[in-house]
Amino acid sequence: PRNRIFFWKVTTTNMAPDGVMRPVILVNEKYPGPKIEVNRGDFITVVVENALDFPTTFHWHGLTMRDDPWYDGVPGQNQCPIPPGTNFTYAFGTDDVVGTHWWHAHFDNQYIDGLVGSLIIRDTPEKDPFLGAYDEERTILISDWYHNPTGPLLQTYLSPQSSGMEPIPNNGLINGKHTFDCSKVQAGLTCTGGERTVFHFLPNQRYRLRIINSSAAAAFLFSIDEHQLQVIEADGTDLNPLLVDSLPINAGQRYSVIVTTNQEIKNYWMRAEMGVECLPDIKGTNLDPIVLAEVRYQGAGAVAPTSVGRFVPDPKAKETQVNPAFAAACQDLDLFQLHPLRSEPILEPITNSILLRISFKRDESEVMRGYLNGITFTGGNPWVPTIVQNLNASHEYEVSQHVMKLEKRDSIVQIIFDNSRGGEHPFHLHGHVFQVVGQGHGVYEEGKSVLNTINPLRRDTATVPKNGYTVIRFKADNPGVWALHCHIEWHVTTGLVMQFIELPDELRAMKIPAHVAKLCETGPPNDFKMH
Ligand code: C2O
Repeated sequence: PRNRIFFWKVTTTNMAPDGVMRPVILVNEKYPGPKIEVNRGDFITVVVENALDFPTTFHWHGLTMRDDPWYDGVPGQNQCPIPPGTNFTYAFGTDDVVGTHWWHAHFDNQYIDGLVGSLIIRDTPEKDPFLGAYDEERTILISDWYHNPTGPLLQTYLSPQSSGMEPIPNNGLINGKHTFDCSKVQAGLTCTGGERTVFHFLPNQRYRLRIINSSAAAAFLFSIDEHQLQVIEADGTDLNPLLVDSLPINAGQRYSVIVTTNQEIKNYWMRAEMGVECLPDIKGTNLDPIVLAEVRYQGAGAVAPTSVGRFVPDPKAKETQVNPAFAAACQDLDLFQLHPLRSEPILEPITNSILLRISFKRDESEVMRGYLNGITFTGGNPWVPTIVQNLNASHEYEVSQHVMKLEKRDSIVQIIFDNSRGGEHPFHLHGHVFQVVGQGHGVYEEGKSVLNTINPLRRDTATVPKNGYTVIRFKADNPGVWALHCHIEWHVTTGLVMQFIELPDELRAMKIPAHVAKLCETGPPNDFKMH
């Protein structure tokens, strides 16, 4: 293992990823931000220089932060914000979570404004089960994209006059690029049309594509015209290969697929079709939900692809036909078809069973908010995070912090997400790779609903289907404060968040590094206000 050091400067700049100029927040002037790529077991050090006018924090999505819970990046929970104009050093081990991960800001909604990047932990050749199964690899970061910064979007979304519907993206990006039809751009913005990402592929090669959905909200159905995809990894878990035509990927999730370039020498569209069915109604907006990149076979020349997707509307049909991809993107791949290559038994017996009911309603100031068991999370005080409050064993938490303690080491925790009256939500648990043991429509019924008990899928972000349920299990063996939240970033703001204090006694006995503790001493900058 080596110590890998990265230097990041965080700034605000004007940029036009899809040809439409807007302010974005960037690390080292790049969108997507710099890729972190290390080997199994390496230590990562990231020296952050916060050159913004406001605080920030970073989260390492996919890492379990074992022994390093205070670097997990959730303000109010496990770290204090990095004040503007200061430096902070993240330093953590990568344990054994090899695979395709990502990093993003976890402060306010900064990741929607640009603070995202890939985080790849490469396996050692002796341990890599797919060594030799592919020749080359590419990382593909997919995201929805908004022409307005989150500030004004949130102002509309969180106002009592709002319909309660989340902001609708204007576009989507593949590796930070896409085109936009300037005739549709919102008045007052400059538009130059943008360009698409181009992937240069050699014929008869096998490419591992590491696909990351860094959306604020949108799920995507990923495909490459006339090619099949062999799915080999989900959120860092190597899988028994599964051949698919297209791959649904929700916000926060990652997959690796192997694609073989054994088709005719020409160029093909890579498609990321947005799950329009799980967004608010896009009628009357300027969103074109089909996001494209080009796959160019060597020898085919620099011409635009002419390939067609799986859905071609019938021009003679009288009724409008909806691309089935717009619905397919909203659900995870069939759970019962995805099994880890390295088999693990189902976690049992269950010691804590937690039922979490997801709901939305207007609060007393008429703002639409999300609730888990009737509690809407409001974040607590960022400068007195839960991990600090836990130093006092008898501290009493605010209801709105939605704290649950997991006191006993190695207890098996089961969470049943009951979403029987709502739209889809990709739920992410920090600090763990959980087993997904159930996912279905309707209400979960103990003993009746079918569970996936044989070598269940392990991941860190799973979709709770529309009008349905998802059941996950994990073992409480990682002392820390771990957020559990919907990865639709708008829903984080409206309260679809809770937190576990896992093994509070062990956590209390761990020594907080001095520079981490110091961060909490500064307090908020003058006239600071969280959303
Ligand atoms: Cu990727 Cu708490 O998030």
